[in-house]
Order: sequence, then structure tokens, then C-alpha cells
Amino acid sequence: ARASEGSDVPPGNKWSFSGPFGKYDRGALQRGLKVYKEVCASCHGLSYIAFRNLGDPGGPGYSVAQVAAFASDYKVKDGPNDAGDMFERPGRAADYFPSPFPNEQAARAANGGAAPPDLSLITKARSYKRGFPMFIVDFFSQYQEQGPDYVSAVLQGFDDHVPEGVTIPDGSYYNKYFPGHAIKMPKPLSDGQVTYDDGSPATVAQYSKDVTTFLMWTAEPHMEARKRLGFQVFVFLILFAGLMYFTKKKVWASSH
Ligand code: HEM
Repeated sequence: ARASEGSDVPPGNKWSFSGPFGKYDRGALQRGLKVYKEVCASCHGLSYIAFRNLGDPGGPGYSVAQVAAFASDYKVKDGPNDAGDMFERPGRAADYFPSPFPNEQAARAANGGAAPPDLSLITKARSYKRGFPMFIVDFFSQYQEQGPDYVSAVLQGFDDHVPEGVTIPDGSYYNKYFPGHAIKMPKPLSDGQVTYDDGSPATVAQYSKDVTTFLMWTAEPHMEARKRLGFQVFVFLILFAGLMYFTKKKVWASSH
């Protein structure tokens, strides 16, 4: 569908989380969180995620102490206090990621008329083959990966060289994969911008993959548990079917 709206089809990736046994790459989740915090958070909210979620099983795997330290880097609005005033305090594990703009109008005004969408669910919003029961889709197909493929492609799809026949209005930027090619997000990532301490390459390609993995987790924080349970259900059903088969044979065995 997207290709017909005037954008290239995002290339496929090998995601660690794809397939019936897919899991999130913990390193990628932690690096992606860093990219979100240092780059994307100045424009995009992550309002469905609380700091405490960073310590949940199946996620970036932070300890309670790491979560508390991470949260305390943020200033969070609170109140009213006893005097009736609003105030700011350091973040706590129970707080949600603060959004960069107070409301949609302010977000639009700061970004040439286009509000940067909240990123919590973006990998779901941008997958384009929907409408089929998701557990079947995940089990047998690649559809689960279309959202992440698109997000990662958009981050890498900027090009100063605009192809002939494409006009980009002032305040917009050419992007190979954005529908219509004119996006109001300036190229957010460049090589060397975020420092990694685990030796992963500091490149736009790596940043894009990592932040997309992180955003897949924010959209589906319980994916690993869901897939584990799904597999167990399959095993149970197969065993149960066998059991039922022999039960049936016994119950219906001729008795004379
Ligand atoms: C749109 C991701 C950084 C401003 C988007 C979209 C995604 C995205 C997935 C939606 C594209 C679509 O609608 O199909 C990211 C990520 C970032 C990042 C992962 C960090 C690596 C930024 C920054 C800014 C920004 C730093 C502000 C300077 C915008 C705006 C839009 C947008 C204004 C709306 C574009 C439009 O509708 O034309 N971003 N973004 N983004 N982003 Fe970002």
C-alpha cells in the first residue's frame, strides 16, 4: 500500500524478535533506549512506558537500582503540593517518560505544522498488513516485521540528493521511504552521534536497528511471554489430541 503512495518499499531486516521463538536482543534494547533518550526524546514522547518497565522481565533487563538511577535523571512535573503549587522533582520508577511538548498545538508549532507522533506504539501503527489474528500471523509469516522494517527504513531514508521529479516544500525533507517523500522530521541520526560502550558500531544503520528494536519492545513488552505461552499451548494441544485419539479408540472399542 505504501509503495503506491509514492515511497519505496522498506528493505527487510533480520530481527532477533521475529518468528515463533524470537526474543529481544538485550544489548540492542539498552542501546536503543540510549538513542531514544539522547536523540528522539527531544521531539517524541513515549507516554505508555514507565521507568519501572525498564526492569520488567522480557525488556532491557535493568535492575531496581539502575531503574531508579535512570529515572532520577529526569525532571517530572508533580503537584499540587500543600500550598497548591505545581512543582518539579526528580523522576521515580513509577513515573512515565515525560513528553517533550505540553500539548499537540505546541508540538505542531515547534515542528513546522507536523506533530511528532508518540513512539510507544509506532512499530504497530506503521505495519501495513493488518486484520488477521496476530498469533497466526506471527507464527507463520513475516508480517510482524513490517512495522519495524518501516521505522528503521525511515530513519535511514534521508538523502540530500532529491531525485528528479520530486519537489520538497520548504520545511520538509526528502525521505525515500516516507509516503509522499516529504517528511517534516529533520534527519535525526548521524554517524558517531551516540556513544556506545559495548563496542557496537556508532553508525546510523546500527542506531536505527537498535532504536527500532527498543520501539518494538515498547509496543510489545510482553512478546517473549506471549510466544512462550503460544508454544506451550501448541505442545499441549498436540499431546491432548493424541490422548483423545486413544481415549476415543478405547471408549468406542467393540465389546462383543
Ligand atoms: C515522525 C521516529 C527523532 C520530529 C516520525 C515517525 C517516526 C519517527 C517513526 C513517523 C513517520 C511516519 O509518520 O510514517 C523518530 C526516531 C527518532 C526521531 C526513532 C530518533 C532517532 C526526531 C527528532 C525530531 C523529530 C529529533 C525533531 C527535531 C518528527 C516530526 C515527525 C516525525 C515533526 C512528523 C513528520 C511528518 O508527519 O511529516 N519520527 N524520530 N523526530 N518526527 Fe521523528
